[in-house]
Amino acid sequence: QIKAVLFDLDGVIVFTDRYHYLGWKKLADEHGWAFDEEVNNGCRGVPRMESLEVILRHNGVELPEAEKEELATRKNAYYVELLKDINEEDVYPGAVEFLKKIRATGVKTGLCSSSKNAPLVLESLGLSDYFDAVVTGADIKNAKPDPEIFLLGAEWVGVAPENCVVFEDAPSGVAGALAAGMACVGVGSPELLTEAPVTITDYSTIDIDALLNNQLTGSP
Ligand code: BG6
Ligand code: MG
Repeated sequence: QIKAVLFDLDGVIVFTDRYHYLGWKKLADEHGWAFDEEVNNGCRGVPRMESLEVILRHNGVELPEAEKEELATRKNAYYVELLKDINEEDVYPGAVEFLKKIRATGVKTGLCSSSKNAPLVLESLGLSDYFDAVVTGADIKNAKPDPEIFLLGAEWVGVAPENCVVFEDAPSGVAGALAAGMACVGVGSPELLTEAPVTITDYSTIDIDALLNNQLTGSP
């Protein structure tokens, strides 16, 4: 029986994955580095510095630590600038209705995002009150695919890992959820989320009873 639903943020509740992409793209273009949607898929759910490493590795570039710090800070400034314009249209279709329905059943909701900007995004869109706990990259030592962020989320909402289901758009996040011993729903295409037992692209298609009985199947 599911007693808590844990959500990733970027690409799951909000289309901020697009803005992370645009931030990295701007940085990459400035340096003439190759960066596209496919490389970006390797940055999904991955912390800031590690995402930069993914891009540098793809381009065969090595840089001193101080310069990497500066580049990551610059990308974050681009991202935060893009966040100034976010609005309801950036929220995943049906996500808020889904959160309301889940919470009305008494099931806990938690946010487990690698992003240190997660509280800012939630505040900007008035979404903070939909979560019983918010765990971010600032609260953990080991990033996804390590299960740490999900185990902490479960602890903070007071539910055992086996009674949690995780919603994730990143292969690394799906792996982390499964490593935490939790059920997992992939948000996005089954081709990218090959490890996810079930995937969705629209929250309104979810049979909530089936989800809470851990019987959700297929890719509606
Ligand atoms: C994840 C995103 O949620 O957060 C990644 O999917 C991002 O793209 C990571 O790199 C870290 O975010 P931030 O905001 O702390 O740089
Ligand atoms: Mg994500």
